[in-house]
Amino acid sequence: MLLEVKGIEMTYPKSDRKIFENISLELDEGSFTAVTGPSGSGKSTFLANAGGYLKPTAGKVIFENEDLYELNDKRISEIHANSIGYVPQSNAMFKKFNVLENILMYSELKDAKGSFEEKKKRAGEIAEKLKIDFLLKRYPYELSGGELKRVSIARALINSPKILIADEPTTGLDRETGKIILDFLSDYRSEKNAVLLATHDDEVLKYADKNVHFRL
Ligand SMILES: Nc1ncnc2c1ncn2[C@@H]1O[C@H](COP(=O)(O)OP(=O)(O)OP(=O)(O)O)[C@@H](O)[C@H]1O
Ligand SMILES: [Mg+2]
Repeated sequence: MLLEVKGIEMTYPKSDRKIFENISLELDEGSFTAVTGPSGSGKSTFLANAGGYLKPTAGKVIFENEDLYELNDKRISEIHANSIGYVPQSNAMFKKFNVLENILMYSELKDAKGSFEEKKKRAGEIAEKLKIDFLLKRYPYELSGGELKRVSIARALINSPKILIADEPTTGLDRETGKIILDFLSDYRSEKNAVLLATHDDEVLKYADKNVHFRL
């Protein structure tokens, strides 16, 4: 097993609303999990908890025998750079850098492993599979929403993480672009990785082997 979420509960500081409680989930190698539920039900919050970015109010998140919220800064930064990729709900990019540079920037994250040459080759390969190779020299403001989303996915995968967490990777995109993304993510999980997605898109459920549903 790659990741184990054990009985987590979440209430944001300065808020009295408990968003969810007692949620458990196991992510195995080769698994594809969809997190669904209405807007505001806690999908993005759960992904941030599961990825080691936001400490839950109660419960634990264990990545390969290490409790993500008990680690020192160095170790968690190593895990975030190399083992858990994250595609945020927004497509934030560095505007003054082109697409290739935006992707490669994540290969240079603090504590990232592997050579730059190797990462450059990998960037080209991922871009080709995601059908964005013709965009590598362009700037983020010259791209459409669906193209930016694919750049954001390529960036999160540049260091070959074992777990990919993606927040609404196909929401608002046309069916064809959504299919390119889902087929790509499905292939990625087949290489013994785990994919965890939050989504409003019912198409995703055709690919998922597990579904966690939140209610308001
Ligand atoms: N930093 C924060 N502080 C306080 N409350 C927050 C914070 N971030 C989110 N919330 C609240 O937590 C709840 C869950 O938000 P979350 O973003 O996890 O929902 P979601 O299911 O991802 O929604 P959407 O489908 O719109 O993306 C919402 O009521 C939101 O207002
Ligand atoms: Mg969300």
